[in-house]
Amino acid sequence: MNPYQLILKKRNGGEHTPEEIRELVLGFANDQGIETYQMAAWLMAVWFKGMTVPELSALTQAMVDSGDQIDLSSLPGVKVDKHSTGGVGDTTTLILAPLAAAAGATVAKMSGRGLGHTGGTLDKLESVPGLRTDLTSQQFLDQVRRIGVAVISQTGNLVPADGKMYSLRDVTATVDSIPLIASSVMSKKIACGAEVILLDVKYGRGAFMENLADARELARRMVDLGKALGRRVRAVISDMDQPLGTMIGNALEVQEAIEILRNERPGSALEVVSVELAAHLLEMAGVSENLERARVRVRELIQNGEGLRKLGEMFRAQGGDPRVVEDTSLLPQAPIIEPVPSPSSGFVTGIHAQQIGFAGTALGAGRKRKGDPIDPAVGIIMEHRVGDAVEAGQPLAVVHARDRQTLAEARQILLDSIAIGPDRPAPRKLIEEIVE
Ligand code: URA
Ligand code: CA
Repeated sequence: MNPYQLILKKRNGGEHTPEEIRELVLGFANDQGIETYQMAAWLMAVWFKGMTVPELSALTQAMVDSGDQIDLSSLPGVKVDKHSTGGVGDTTTLILAPLAAAAGATVAKMSGRGLGHTGGTLDKLESVPGLRTDLTSQQFLDQVRRIGVAVISQTGNLVPADGKMYSLRDVTATVDSIPLIASSVMSKKIACGAEVILLDVKYGRGAFMENLADARELARRMVDLGKALGRRVRAVISDMDQPLGTMIGNALEVQEAIEILRNERPGSALEVVSVELAAHLLEMAGVSENLERARVRVRELIQNGEGLRKLGEMFRAQGGDPRVVEDTSLLPQAPIIEPVPSPSSGFVTGIHAQQIGFAGTALGAGRKRKGDPIDPAVGIIMEHRVGDAVEAGQPLAVVHARDRQTLAEARQILLDSIAIGPDRPAPRKLIEEIVE
Protein backbone atom coordinates (compact mmCIF):
# COMPACT_ATOMS: atom_id res chain seq x y z
CA MET A 1 0.00 0.00 0.00
CA ASN A 2 1.20 3.51 -0.60
CA PRO A 3 1.26 6.04 2.24
CA TYR A 4 -1.87 7.77 0.93
CA GLN A 5 -3.86 4.54 1.25
CA LEU A 6 -2.53 3.91 4.77
CA ILE A 7 -3.61 7.36 5.91
CA LEU A 8 -7.00 6.94 4.23
CA LYS A 9 -7.52 3.58 5.90
CA LYS A 10 -6.94 4.97 9.39
CA ARG A 11 -8.91 8.13 8.65
CA ASN A 12 -11.90 5.98 7.68
CA GLY A 13 -11.65 3.91 10.85
CA GLY A 14 -10.07 0.82 9.33
CA GLU A 15 -7.65 -1.53 11.11
CA HIS A 16 -4.04 -1.80 9.93
CA THR A 17 -2.17 -5.05 9.55
CA PRO A 18 1.11 -5.30 11.50
CA GLU A 19 2.98 -5.11 8.16
CA GLU A 20 1.29 -1.81 7.30
CA ILE A 21 2.29 -0.34 10.63
CA ARG A 22 5.90 -1.45 10.25
CA GLU A 23 6.01 0.08 6.80
CA LEU A 24 4.77 3.42 8.18
CA VAL A 25 6.98 3.57 11.29
CA LEU A 26 10.20 2.23 9.79
CA GLY A 27 9.64 4.13 6.53
CA PHE A 28 9.33 7.35 8.51
CA ALA A 29 12.18 6.60 10.94
CA ASN A 30 14.58 5.71 8.09
CA ASP A 31 13.42 8.39 5.63
CA GLN A 32 12.30 5.67 3.26
CA GLY A 33 9.07 6.48 1.51
CA ILE A 34 7.10 8.17 4.30
CA GLU A 35 7.23 11.96 4.28
CA THR A 36 6.90 14.03 7.44
CA TYR A 37 3.55 15.50 6.33
CA GLN A 38 2.22 12.00 5.74
CA MET A 39 3.21 10.83 9.21
CA ALA A 40 1.64 14.00 10.65
CA ALA A 41 -1.66 13.24 8.88
CA TRP A 42 -1.57 9.61 10.02
CA LEU A 43 -0.90 10.64 13.66
CA MET A 44 -3.91 12.96 13.54
CA ALA A 45 -6.04 10.13 12.11
CA VAL A 46 -4.89 7.98 15.06
CA TRP A 47 -5.78 10.81 17.44
CA PHE A 48 -9.36 10.68 16.18
CA LYS A 49 -9.82 6.97 15.46
CA GLY A 50 -7.60 5.32 18.11
CA MET A 51 -5.86 1.97 17.75
CA THR A 52 -6.86 -1.64 18.40
CA VAL A 53 -4.79 -3.83 20.72
CA PRO A 54 -3.04 -5.65 17.82
CA GLU A 55 -2.33 -2.34 16.08
CA LEU A 56 -0.84 -0.86 19.23
CA SER A 57 1.41 -3.89 19.81
CA ALA A 58 2.62 -3.71 16.22
CA LEU A 59 3.25 0.04 16.53
CA THR A 60 5.26 -0.38 19.72
CA GLN A 61 7.27 -3.30 18.37
CA ALA A 62 8.07 -1.40 15.17
CA MET A 63 9.22 1.61 17.25
CA VAL A 64 11.48 -0.66 19.34
CA ASP A 65 12.88 -2.20 16.14
CA SER A 66 13.75 1.24 14.73
CA GLY A 67 16.90 1.32 16.90
CA ASP A 68 19.12 -0.55 19.35
CA GLN A 69 17.99 -2.52 22.37
CA ILE A 70 19.89 -2.91 25.62
CA ASP A 71 20.72 -6.56 26.27
CA LEU A 72 20.61 -7.21 30.02
CA SER A 73 20.64 -11.00 29.66
CA SER A 74 24.26 -11.29 30.87
CA LEU A 75 23.29 -9.81 34.25
CA PRO A 76 22.30 -12.00 37.20
CA GLY A 77 18.94 -11.65 38.96
CA VAL A 78 15.59 -10.37 37.81
CA LYS A 79 15.95 -7.07 35.98
CA VAL A 80 13.40 -4.52 37.19
CA ASP A 81 12.48 -1.06 35.98
CA LYS A 82 10.06 1.64 37.09
CA HIS A 83 8.64 4.48 35.06
CA SER A 84 6.75 7.49 36.32
CA THR A 85 4.64 9.54 33.92
CA GLY A 86 6.16 12.57 35.64
CA GLY A 87 5.40 14.90 38.46
CA VAL A 88 6.59 17.40 41.03
CA GLY A 89 8.62 16.38 44.08
CA ASP A 90 8.52 12.86 42.66
CA THR A 91 11.83 11.48 43.90
CA THR A 92 10.75 7.85 44.18
CA THR A 93 13.50 6.50 41.86
CA LEU A 94 16.31 7.67 44.15
CA ILE A 95 14.64 5.87 47.06
CA LEU A 96 13.34 2.68 45.49
CA ALA A 97 16.30 1.91 43.20
CA PRO A 98 18.77 1.36 46.09
CA LEU A 99 16.09 -0.36 48.19
CA ALA A 100 15.20 -2.82 45.41
CA ALA A 101 18.90 -3.49 44.75
CA ALA A 102 19.62 -3.98 48.46
CA ALA A 103 16.79 -6.54 48.53
CA GLY A 104 18.35 -8.50 45.66
CA ALA A 105 16.62 -7.24 42.52
CA THR A 106 18.72 -6.01 39.59
CA VAL A 107 18.16 -2.34 38.81
CA ALA A 108 19.63 -1.31 35.44
CA LYS A 109 17.81 1.94 34.87
CA MET A 110 17.87 4.70 32.29
CA SER A 111 16.21 7.92 33.38
CA GLY A 112 15.34 11.26 31.90
CA ARG A 113 15.84 14.97 32.50
CA GLY A 114 13.31 17.46 33.75
CA LEU A 115 11.21 19.44 31.30
CA GLY A 116 8.52 22.02 31.95
CA HIS A 117 7.17 21.74 35.49
CA THR A 118 8.41 18.17 36.08
CA GLY A 119 11.75 17.16 37.56
CA GLY A 120 14.09 14.54 36.13
CA THR A 121 16.09 11.93 37.98
CA LEU A 122 19.30 12.64 36.02
CA ASP A 123 19.30 16.31 36.98
CA LYS A 124 18.76 15.41 40.63
CA LEU A 125 21.57 12.81 40.60
CA GLU A 126 24.00 15.21 38.95
CA SER A 127 23.62 17.61 41.88
CA VAL A 128 25.79 15.13 43.82
CA PRO A 129 29.35 16.52 43.43
CA GLY A 130 31.28 14.55 40.79
CA LEU A 131 28.47 12.19 39.86
CA ARG A 132 28.17 11.17 36.20
CA THR A 133 25.18 9.70 34.42
CA ASP A 134 26.74 9.37 30.95
CA LEU A 135 28.16 5.87 31.34
CA THR A 136 28.92 3.70 28.30
CA SER A 137 26.88 0.51 27.88
CA GLN A 138 29.85 -1.51 29.12
CA GLN A 139 30.38 0.66 32.22
CA PHE A 140 26.64 0.48 32.90
CA LEU A 141 26.52 -3.32 32.73
CA ASP A 142 29.73 -3.68 34.78
CA GLN A 143 28.39 -1.45 37.53
CA VAL A 144 25.06 -3.29 37.71
CA ARG A 145 26.87 -6.64 37.84
CA ARG A 146 29.08 -5.36 40.67
CA ILE A 147 26.61 -3.51 42.92
CA GLY A 148 23.15 -4.35 41.54
CA VAL A 149 22.17 -0.82 40.56
CA ALA A 150 22.92 1.99 38.13
CA VAL A 151 20.83 4.97 37.04
CA ILE A 152 22.14 6.58 33.88
CA SER A 153 21.14 8.62 30.83
CA GLN A 154 20.16 6.81 27.68
CA THR A 155 23.05 5.11 25.89
CA GLY A 156 22.95 3.94 22.30
CA ASN A 157 20.41 4.73 19.65
CA LEU A 158 17.23 3.67 21.47
CA VAL A 159 13.86 4.06 19.74
CA PRO A 160 14.80 6.79 17.22
CA ALA A 161 11.26 6.49 15.79
CA ASP A 162 9.91 7.83 19.08
CA GLY A 163 12.18 10.88 19.03
CA LYS A 164 11.08 11.72 15.51
CA MET A 165 7.40 11.01 16.07
CA TYR A 166 7.33 12.87 19.39
CA SER A 167 8.84 16.03 17.84
CA LEU A 168 6.16 15.89 15.17
CA ARG A 169 3.35 15.27 17.69
CA ASP A 170 4.60 18.20 19.70
CA VAL A 171 3.92 20.63 16.83
CA THR A 172 0.74 19.02 15.41
CA ALA A 173 -1.49 18.80 18.53
CA THR A 174 -1.21 15.02 18.73
CA VAL A 175 0.72 14.52 21.98
CA ASP A 176 -2.39 13.89 24.08
CA SER A 177 -3.49 10.64 22.47
CA ILE A 178 -3.57 7.70 24.87
CA PRO A 179 -2.40 5.07 22.31
CA LEU A 180 0.40 7.36 21.13
CA ILE A 181 1.55 8.06 24.71
CA ALA A 182 1.31 4.36 25.60
CA SER A 183 3.43 3.27 22.61
CA SER A 184 5.95 6.08 23.20
CA VAL A 185 6.50 5.19 26.87
CA MET A 186 6.41 1.41 26.44
CA SER A 187 8.70 1.31 23.39
CA LYS A 188 11.41 3.01 25.46
CA LYS A 189 10.86 0.73 28.45
CA ILE A 190 10.93 -2.40 26.26
CA ALA A 191 14.14 -1.24 24.52
CA CYS A 192 15.82 -0.83 27.93
CA GLY A 193 15.56 -4.58 28.45
CA ALA A 194 13.97 -5.09 31.91
CA GLU A 195 11.83 -8.18 32.53
CA VAL A 196 9.70 -6.50 35.20
CA ILE A 197 8.26 -3.03 34.57
CA LEU A 198 6.31 -1.04 37.15
CA LEU A 199 4.47 2.01 35.85
CA ASP A 200 3.58 4.87 38.16
CA VAL A 201 0.79 6.68 36.35
CA LYS A 202 0.14 10.02 37.98
CA TYR A 203 -3.13 11.90 37.90
CA GLY A 204 -4.06 15.38 39.08
CA ARG A 205 -3.05 18.96 38.41
CA GLY A 206 0.69 18.22 38.25
CA ALA A 207 0.34 15.22 35.92
CA PHE A 208 0.00 14.53 32.20
CA MET A 209 -3.42 13.04 32.92
CA GLU A 210 -5.50 15.43 34.98
CA ASN A 211 -8.39 13.08 35.67
CA LEU A 212 -8.59 9.56 37.01
CA ALA A 213 -10.51 8.07 34.06
CA ASP A 214 -7.76 9.07 31.59
CA ALA A 215 -5.01 7.84 33.94
CA ARG A 216 -6.83 4.53 34.27
CA GLU A 217 -7.14 4.12 30.51
CA LEU A 218 -3.47 4.99 29.93
CA ALA A 219 -2.43 2.52 32.65
CA ARG A 220 -4.65 -0.23 31.20
CA ARG A 221 -3.27 0.22 27.68
CA MET A 222 0.37 0.30 28.82
CA VAL A 223 -0.06 -2.82 30.98
CA ASP A 224 -1.75 -4.76 28.16
CA LEU A 225 0.92 -3.62 25.75
CA GLY A 226 3.80 -4.67 28.00
CA LYS A 227 2.23 -8.09 28.49
CA ALA A 228 1.62 -8.54 24.77
CA LEU A 229 5.33 -7.87 24.25
CA GLY A 230 6.38 -10.43 26.85
CA ARG A 231 7.11 -8.38 29.97
CA ARG A 232 5.74 -8.57 33.53
CA VAL A 233 3.99 -5.22 33.91
CA ARG A 234 1.83 -3.57 36.54
CA ALA A 235 0.71 0.01 37.01
CA VAL A 236 -0.14 1.99 40.11
CA ILE A 237 -2.25 5.11 39.72
CA SER A 238 -1.06 7.71 42.19
CA ASP A 239 -1.94 11.25 43.19
CA MET A 240 -0.12 14.19 41.64
CA ASP A 241 -2.53 16.97 42.51
CA GLN A 242 -0.09 18.30 45.12
CA PRO A 243 3.68 17.68 45.08
CA LEU A 244 4.57 14.20 46.37
CA GLY A 245 7.66 15.11 48.35
CA THR A 246 8.26 18.01 50.69
CA MET A 247 11.21 19.29 48.67
CA ILE A 248 11.23 20.50 45.07
CA GLY A 249 14.58 21.18 43.42
CA ASN A 250 17.50 18.97 42.48
CA ALA A 251 19.91 18.88 45.45
CA LEU A 252 16.93 19.32 47.79
CA GLU A 253 15.23 16.23 46.36
CA VAL A 254 18.44 14.22 46.78
CA GLN A 255 18.51 15.44 50.38
CA GLU A 256 14.92 14.30 50.94
CA ALA A 257 15.64 10.87 49.43
CA ILE A 258 18.62 10.52 51.79
CA GLU A 259 16.53 11.58 54.78
CA ILE A 260 13.93 8.94 53.90
CA LEU A 261 16.59 6.24 53.54
CA ARG A 262 17.93 7.35 56.96
CA ASN A 263 14.44 6.69 58.35
CA GLU A 264 14.05 10.34 59.29
CA ARG A 265 10.67 10.84 57.56
CA PRO A 266 8.58 7.81 58.47
CA GLY A 267 4.99 8.03 57.23
CA SER A 268 5.64 10.94 54.85
CA ALA A 269 3.79 10.78 51.51
CA LEU A 270 7.00 10.31 49.53
CA GLU A 271 8.14 7.51 51.83
CA VAL A 272 4.78 5.74 51.74
CA VAL A 273 4.62 5.79 47.92
CA SER A 274 8.30 4.81 47.51
CA VAL A 275 7.95 1.85 49.88
CA GLU A 276 4.81 0.73 48.08
CA LEU A 277 6.45 0.95 44.64
CA ALA A 278 9.57 -0.87 45.85
CA ALA A 279 7.39 -3.60 47.38
CA HIS A 280 5.52 -4.10 44.10
CA LEU A 281 8.83 -4.45 42.27
CA LEU A 282 10.11 -7.07 44.73
CA GLU A 283 6.89 -9.04 44.58
CA MET A 284 6.73 -8.91 40.77
CA ALA A 285 10.39 -9.98 40.56
CA GLY A 286 9.74 -12.93 42.87
CA VAL A 287 12.29 -11.61 45.39
CA SER A 288 9.51 -11.54 48.01
CA GLU A 289 6.72 -14.10 47.96
CA ASN A 290 3.91 -11.63 48.48
CA LEU A 291 3.26 -7.92 48.76
CA GLU A 292 3.01 -7.85 52.55
CA ARG A 293 6.38 -9.58 52.97
CA ALA A 294 7.86 -7.24 50.40
CA ARG A 295 6.67 -4.19 52.36
CA VAL A 296 8.16 -5.57 55.58
CA ARG A 297 11.46 -6.24 53.76
CA VAL A 298 11.60 -2.73 52.30
CA ARG A 299 10.90 -1.09 55.67
CA GLU A 300 13.63 -3.27 57.21
CA LEU A 301 16.11 -2.01 54.60
CA ILE A 302 15.26 1.56 55.58
CA GLN A 303 15.54 0.86 59.30
CA ASN A 304 18.84 -1.04 59.09
CA GLY A 305 20.46 1.51 56.76
CA GLU A 306 21.07 -0.99 53.92
CA GLY A 307 19.14 1.15 51.43
CA LEU A 308 21.20 4.22 52.35
CA ARG A 309 24.42 2.26 52.08
CA LYS A 310 23.43 1.08 48.58
CA LEU A 311 22.70 4.66 47.51
CA GLY A 312 26.17 5.71 48.72
CA GLU A 313 27.68 2.79 46.79
CA MET A 314 25.87 3.91 43.65
CA PHE A 315 27.07 7.50 44.10
CA ARG A 316 30.67 6.28 44.47
CA ALA A 317 30.43 3.90 41.49
CA GLN A 318 29.25 6.78 39.27
CA GLY A 319 32.02 9.13 40.42
CA GLY A 320 29.95 11.00 43.02
CA ASP A 321 30.96 11.92 46.55
CA PRO A 322 29.59 9.08 48.71
CA ARG A 323 29.95 11.16 51.92
CA VAL A 324 26.82 13.02 50.80
CA VAL A 325 24.64 10.25 52.27
CA GLU A 326 26.10 11.02 55.71
CA ASP A 327 26.34 14.78 55.29
CA THR A 328 23.85 16.45 52.96
CA SER A 329 25.51 19.86 53.52
CA LEU A 330 28.04 18.66 50.91
CA LEU A 331 25.30 19.14 48.29
CA PRO A 332 25.12 22.52 46.51
CA GLN A 333 23.51 25.16 48.75
CA ALA A 334 21.55 28.25 47.69
CA PRO A 335 22.75 31.63 49.01
CA ILE A 336 19.26 32.94 49.90
CA ILE A 337 16.87 30.98 52.11
CA GLU A 338 13.60 32.71 53.00
CA PRO A 339 10.20 31.63 54.29
CA VAL A 340 6.90 32.51 52.60
CA PRO A 341 4.46 33.36 55.40
CA SER A 342 0.79 32.40 55.16
CA PRO A 343 -1.42 35.43 54.43
CA SER A 344 -4.33 33.94 56.44
CA SER A 345 -5.37 31.26 58.93
CA GLY A 346 -7.39 28.16 58.05
CA PHE A 347 -6.80 24.86 56.29
CA VAL A 348 -4.73 24.20 53.19
CA THR A 349 -7.43 23.23 50.67
CA GLY A 350 -5.26 22.77 47.60
CA ILE A 351 -1.64 22.94 46.41
CA HIS A 352 -1.46 23.18 42.63
CA ALA A 353 1.36 20.78 41.79
CA GLN A 354 2.05 22.12 38.31
CA GLN A 355 2.29 25.71 39.58
CA ILE A 356 4.67 24.64 42.35
CA GLY A 357 6.77 23.02 39.61
CA PHE A 358 6.74 26.31 37.71
CA ALA A 359 7.86 28.14 40.86
CA GLY A 360 10.83 25.75 40.90
CA THR A 361 11.49 26.51 37.22
CA ALA A 362 11.35 30.25 37.94
CA LEU A 363 14.09 29.73 40.55
CA GLY A 364 16.23 27.87 37.99
CA ALA A 365 15.59 24.30 39.19
CA GLY A 366 13.90 23.29 35.93
CA ARG A 367 14.03 23.92 32.21
CA LYS A 368 11.82 26.03 30.02
CA ARG A 369 13.45 24.57 26.89
CA LYS A 370 15.28 21.30 26.21
CA GLY A 371 19.01 21.80 26.83
CA ASP A 372 18.64 24.83 29.16
CA PRO A 373 21.09 24.80 32.09
CA ILE A 374 19.69 24.24 35.58
CA ASP A 375 20.76 25.41 39.02
CA PRO A 376 21.13 22.35 41.29
CA ALA A 377 21.01 24.32 44.55
CA VAL A 378 17.71 26.18 44.29
CA GLY A 379 14.20 25.00 45.11
CA ILE A 380 11.33 24.99 47.55
CA ILE A 381 10.59 23.22 50.81
CA MET A 382 6.85 22.87 51.37
CA GLU A 383 5.90 23.21 55.01
CA HIS A 384 2.38 21.78 54.61
CA ARG A 385 0.24 19.28 52.75
CA VAL A 386 -3.41 19.59 51.78
CA GLY A 387 -5.59 19.29 54.90
CA ASP A 388 -3.07 20.85 57.31
CA ALA A 389 -4.13 23.73 59.57
CA VAL A 390 -2.11 26.94 59.09
CA GLU A 391 -1.90 30.23 60.93
CA ALA A 392 -1.38 33.65 59.41
CA GLY A 393 2.30 34.57 59.50
CA GLN A 394 3.52 30.98 59.80
CA PRO A 395 5.58 29.71 56.84
CA LEU A 396 3.76 27.92 54.01
CA ALA A 397 7.05 27.16 52.28
CA VAL A 398 10.75 28.03 52.42
CA VAL A 399 12.40 29.20 49.19
CA HIS A 400 16.05 28.47 48.35
CA ALA A 401 17.02 31.05 45.72
CA ARG A 402 20.04 32.30 43.79
CA ASP A 403 18.94 35.96 43.76
CA ARG A 404 16.23 38.38 44.92
CA GLN A 405 14.41 38.60 41.61
CA THR A 406 13.76 34.86 41.20
CA LEU A 407 12.92 34.70 44.92
CA ALA A 408 10.16 37.30 44.42
CA GLU A 409 8.85 35.49 41.34
CA ALA A 410 8.70 32.12 43.11
CA ARG A 411 7.12 33.66 46.21
CA GLN A 412 4.28 35.12 44.13
CA ILE A 413 3.61 31.83 42.31
CA LEU A 414 3.58 29.97 45.65
CA LEU A 415 1.09 32.39 47.20
CA ASP A 416 -1.14 32.05 44.11
CA SER A 417 -1.04 28.25 44.09
CA ILE A 418 -1.56 27.34 47.76
CA ALA A 419 -5.26 27.73 48.58
CA ILE A 420 -6.36 28.34 52.17
CA GLY A 421 -9.99 28.07 53.31
CA PRO A 422 -12.14 27.64 56.41
CA ASP A 423 -12.93 23.90 55.98
CA ARG A 424 -10.64 20.91 56.04
CA PRO A 425 -10.94 19.14 52.65
CA ALA A 426 -11.46 15.38 52.27
CA PRO A 427 -8.08 13.71 51.73
CA ARG A 428 -7.19 12.07 48.39
CA LYS A 429 -5.59 8.63 48.44
CA LEU A 430 -1.85 8.58 47.68
CA ILE A 431 -2.29 5.41 45.61
CA GLU A 432 -5.68 5.25 44.01
CA GLU A 433 -5.54 1.80 42.45
CA ILE A 434 -3.45 -0.98 40.93
CA VAL A 435 -3.83 -2.03 37.28
CA GLU A 436 -2.56 -5.50 36.35
N1 URA B 1 6.11 10.79 27.72
C1 URA B 1 6.61 10.09 26.69
O1 URA B 1 7.68 9.50 26.80
N2 URA B 1 5.91 10.01 25.56
C2 URA B 1 4.72 10.61 25.39
O2 URA B 1 4.12 10.49 24.34
C3 URA B 1 4.21 11.35 26.47
C4 URA B 1 4.93 11.42 27.62
CA1 CA C 1 10.42 11.54 37.59
